[in-house]
Amino acid sequence: MTQDELKQAVAQAAADYVAENAPQGCIVGVGTGSTANFFIDALARQKDRYRGAVASSEATRKRLESHGIAVFDLNEVSDIPVYVDGADEVDAGLNMIKGGGGALTREKIVAAVARTFVCIADGSKQVAVMGKFPLPVEVIPMARAHVARQLEKLGGRPQLRTGFITDNGNEILDVHGLQIADPKALEAEINQIVGVVTNGLFALRPADVLLLGTAEGVRRSG
Ligand code: 5RP
Repeated sequence: MTQDELKQAVAQAAADYVAENAPQGCIVGVGTGSTANFFIDALARQKDRYRGAVASSEATRKRLESHGIAVFDLNEVSDIPVYVDGADEVDAGLNMIKGGGGALTREKIVAAVARTFVCIADGSKQVAVMGKFPLPVEVIPMARAHVARQLEKLGGRPQLRTGFITDNGNEILDVHGLQIADPKALEAEINQIVGVVTNGLFALRPADVLLLGTAEGVRRSG
């Protein structure tokens, strides 16, 4: 199976999970990226079950709307039974690195509201220890150099993602070379640096369920 076929398989499994576990008429949280895009396409086939969605990025909002799915502002929504999103890396504790697509802050906000976070990923994203994928950190532009110096003190090599501005008008530093032995502690420590909006570690609020696409089929954990 190709990587896209694995992504499509987990996206369909996630749509089935939502249909089985979320009440009819609810609002579904929807992530960002190529795997999340396949989920949107699968969700669209059952869109009459749902009132609509909350989007974790402008790109996701546009794709949902192109399928005729109503998109709600998060401030109008108090309950999101399920949030479905991809990941760049996921470990055995369902901690993740996210933000390869630059939507980490809105993703983390939607995940904070959601009751259940379903991570959908192809098998290449599963790792024993996270950190090979450079950790995205969203920064207020005027703080970029200060934040980069602090990240170097933590042992990382930050690189500005050139030509990229987030949906929130900020910049991304991709941090290479971090040893992520304690994801929760590192997530909290980086978020304490003044000028950081948030970082792409999702360990303080990890996924609840992982649907992993493998050649042998979709494996579920959690
Ligand atoms: C976007 C993300 C994505 O979930 C992550 O980058 C995975 O993307 P893809 O499904 O395209 O591999 O965090 O900010």
